[in-house]
Order: sequence, then structure tokens, then C-alpha cells
Amino acid sequence: MEIKIYKTAEETCLHVAEMLAEMAQKGGTVALSGGSTPKLLFRIMTEKYHSTDWSKIRCFWVDERLVPTEDSESNYGEFCRILIPAVVPATSVFPVKYDIDASRSLSEAEKAIREQVPFAGAFPQFDLILLGIGEDGHTASIFPDNLQLFDTTDVVSLAVHPQTGQRRVTLTGNVINNAKRVVFLCTGKGKKEILYDVIRKKNKQLPAAHVDPVGELVYYLDEAAAEKL
Ligand code: 6PG
Repeated sequence: MEIKIYKTAEETCLHVAEMLAEMAQKGGTVALSGGSTPKLLFRIMTEKYHSTDWSKIRCFWVDERLVPTEDSESNYGEFCRILIPAVVPATSVFPVKYDIDASRSLSEAEKAIREQVPFAGAFPQFDLILLGIGEDGHTASIFPDNLQLFDTTDVVSLAVHPQTGQRRVTLTGNVINNAKRVVFLCTGKGKKEILYDVIRKKNKQLPAAHVDPVGELVYYLDEAAAEKL
């Protein structure tokens, strides 16, 4: 495990963008998280890496909220609204398609992953999975009340946000842990307690503490988020 700490959220996201741009040279499969943190990353990618050839990257989502793309809650929708689709051509993007029938969204998402992501053993193996951590220790859409998603042999699963009841599709824990590289991108003082509980206390009641990939595990943090480490 490696922990990289930078002064500001901007600098932290800049280094993640740099890592993604380096990856774009050789291509590969990437699964992106949603939420607010990656939006700064996407803005930086648009500003500083718009001329990068992203066409060799096949881009998936770690999780997606089951809402229409035009909804501000849509992870793919926010990706497109910020990262101007021309920057990452549509051919390289495999969003979870919203369907009123959640089981159809789920099966379509699994089909795309199985078609596009090579397997290593029993699970697809992403080259890179970019994760965030919620203040309750969730990651992807694996919440503390749903730790069994680290044991399932499914590739993707339906999940429900414990507070909002929002339905989601998420990668499962075994797929996350089968990745060649997992990067946590966490910024802001609101994450300092949960990062201490995950990284130092290794509190296994927290889903993020179950992320232990076969490949590399790297935390990209700003000083505010890393304050207690
Ligand atoms: C999602 C994310 C989720 C996110 C954390 C952190 O769709 O909400 O995939 O796992 O990474 O909730 O979110 P913030 O970056 O907004 O703190």
C-alpha cells in the first residue's frame, strides 16, 4: 500500500490526472467512481489533458445511480457534462444504462464488463479502479449494511443507499480486489476520521477497509484528508 499526500485537492487531482494520462498511452480498462471528488479531477482532465488520446482507455463506472443521465445524480451524466465527451470518445465509454427495470441495467452492465474486461481467475481484472470513500466508510456502492458484497461471486450487484433509498448498480468486492491497481482519491477534512479508521485502525466494519487488491493499492490524499494519518 502506498499513501501519496499533496497540499491541496487540486494538486492531488492533478497527480491522479497525470497517472490516468500516462495510462492512456498504453490503454487499458478503467472503472471510475462518482460522487463529488472526481468532478475536480474531470475538470482538470478537460483543462490540462484535453489533447491526450483517451481512445485506448475503455472507461467503466465503479457504480452508478439508477437515474436518467440528465439527472445531476448520474455519475455518467456528470462525467459527460464536465469532461466534454469529445475528450473521451464515446467508443471508449461503457456507462451503466438507466432502465426503469433495474435488473436490465444490471445485466447490461455485467454483459459490457464481461465483453470488454479480460478475466484473471474467476473475475474480470480492471487495469485501474478509482475509488472514493464516503464518511460512513462505504466505497463504490458497498455500504456498511451490505458487506456481503465483498464475498459474492457476482461481478456487479444492485445496491440501495441506506439513507436515501437510491437504487444503484455497483462493482462487487471481488472485482475491485482483482484489479491490477486500485487508487483511492480522497480530499478534504471531512474524510480525515474515516481515513484514520480505514487505514490505521483497519476497522473491518467499514467496506473501504476490505479493499485489498491483488495488485497495487495507492491512496491519493490531500493534507486535510490525511491529517490524522
Ligand atoms: C458514488 C461513489 C461513491 C463515492 C463516495 C465518496 O457514486 O457516490 O462511487 O462511492 O466515491 O460516496 O463521494 P464524495 O467524493 O462525494 O465524497
